Amino acid sequence: MCGIVGYVGPQSALDVVTAGLKRLEYRGYDSAGVAVLADGGLATAKRAGKLVNLEKELAARPLPTGATGIGHTRWATHGGPTDANAHPHLDNAGRVAVVHNGIIENFAELRAELAGRGHDLASETDTEVVAHLLAEEFSSCADLAEAMRLVCKRLLGAFTLVAVHADAPDVVVGARRDSPLVVGVGEGESFLASDVAAFIEHTRSAIELGQDQVVELRRDQVTVTGFDGAPTDVRTYHVDWDASAAEKGGYPSFMLKEIAEQPRAVADTLLGRIDGSGALSLDEVRIPPEALREADKVVIVACGTAFHAGLIAKYAIEHWTRIPCEVELASEFRHRDPILDPQTLVIAVSQSGETMDTLMALRHAREQGARVLAICNTNGSTIPRESDAVLYTHAGPEVAVASTKAFLTQLVACYLVALYLAQVRGAKDADEIRAVVRDLSAISRSVERVLETMEPVRELARALAHKDTVLFLGRHVGYPVALEGALKLKELAYMHAEGFAAGELKHGPIALVEDDLPVVVVVPSPRGRSVLHDKMVSSIQEIRARGARTVVIAEEGDDEVVPYADHLILVPAVPTLLQPLVTTVPLQVFACELATTRGNEVDQPRNLAKSVTVE
Ligand code: F6R
Repeated sequence: MCGIVGYVGPQSALDVVTAGLKRLEYRGYDSAGVAVLADGGLATAKRAGKLVNLEKELAARPLPTGATGIGHTRWATHGGPTDANAHPHLDNAGRVAVVHNGIIENFAELRAELAGRGHDLASETDTEVVAHLLAEEFSSCADLAEAMRLVCKRLLGAFTLVAVHADAPDVVVGARRDSPLVVGVGEGESFLASDVAAFIEHTRSAIELGQDQVVELRRDQVTVTGFDGAPTDVRTYHVDWDASAAEKGGYPSFMLKEIAEQPRAVADTLLGRIDGSGALSLDEVRIPPEALREADKVVIVACGTAFHAGLIAKYAIEHWTRIPCEVELASEFRHRDPILDPQTLVIAVSQSGETMDTLMALRHAREQGARVLAICNTNGSTIPRESDAVLYTHAGPEVAVASTKAFLTQLVACYLVALYLAQVRGAKDADEIRAVVRDLSAISRSVERVLETMEPVRELARALAHKDTVLFLGRHVGYPVALEGALKLKELAYMHAEGFAAGELKHGPIALVEDDLPVVVVVPSPRGRSVLHDKMVSSIQEIRARGARTVVIAEEGDDEVVPYADHLILVPAVPTLLQPLVTTVPLQVFACELATTRGNEVDQPRNLAKSVTVE
């Protein structure tokens, strides 16, 4: 949510910053802007709309070349997506430029105070006050990092700030509270960004800034302090993926590339977590086994797609461990005063590791004494750093705003945690666990097989692209899959899509069914828990009798559904609890193709941003 880049070094700052913004555009694309220190002054350009508008502006009116610069791509919070509200924001003298991610809660008060001192604020944003405050502080201390520390102490809310001052050439200053900021350490050059993707082509050496810290960046020096000015030790880490992982690699969109990467992502998430005997080896979960044995409740908190992964995890956790498991939207969690204690294990699921709702939920849980285990895809991000332990998903960078490969790997990680709990607590014997681990290890190949048979799904999506509504039905673990299928369609195709538990149909939603309404039905396996299957077949008949056009996702060999399927999508047979790993994939492909047919940009759906760092 808002992408930020800063650079100081021998290269053209403008080139480095705009290339970095391109890689961060997934974080927001309402407007973009840059500022460069050059010829003793500050040159800026900014434009509403996508980065391409800024690039056109820069081509028409090039900025002078400079060694120090900052840039921003915006997801609007305060003030609409206009040129005036685009970042950077300047002080009245045009000497300070600031870019910001987050929300400054006391901006109205600060704005009134500044206006009282004669400042003229030009935008509707909360950010502009920072430029003015920085200019005031710098005029007395002539030290941009110190000015930033003084200003930060006055700000309420969540923010990442990055600033330059025309009187402090070769310096970029950043500050962080509850919003991500990473330093890139190069040879004679330094970078700052919301995400390592912005500078990965220049350096893979990074420093994650902590809470309430200010960083001063020079070509050869990175100095980190607290807001109080006390020097802070920093840990440099190596980013274990390279620039090519964040490129489209020949695919028309990141989303298609990320869907295709799922077999590898699933396999990578299992890698190193299964020992030679086929048992689980999760030493990285640093919560002591005694604590896991004592846990009397699991609570999963997450948002959006990650929440759907949590809903599926509940089935596995309760079935395999017999520990009660609740799943809650992170944005609701702390506001209802949940019952938590040291025996509660909270699992926070997040691709980005920066989702503010999830972060606040985990903080609340820890304040109540609960232990928190993060399942996260982003190394070094805030959620794992603030958790007691972390299990990383190894999906690689997910750039498309709609989550796909991260979801599948979140599921794998949830299954691993559930099995690990069962192993530690002796809820299942070693052979049973080994059998499930074997099934999990075979899943990557099943996902690959699903991907090989997607052309009919794409054809169907094209045929249904003119529809206004699509419904999704599921039972058991198929119910969260239905929710996920509907979410993908909403966010990508901007059409009315709802997911329901099939059993709920007769309690209301069946009233929506009308002639030729597409209804996607995720059918449970006919093997094992066949009661579920039978009930689902009845549900399909009920909606079909009312004119629905049924799109049935069923297991290969499930002959019983064939007469009721207007469109049949077959997936390989896998154990019931693991079925979401294969049934979700056609729904991702369906939403992506349908949205593309409608002319939508699938990587950057309207009004959305990846990594939602505001509550
Ligand atoms: C939907 C989607 C979002 C995210 C949600 C949580 O496709 O991507 O619903 O799943 O914003 O994000 P993370 O997992 O980063 O916490």
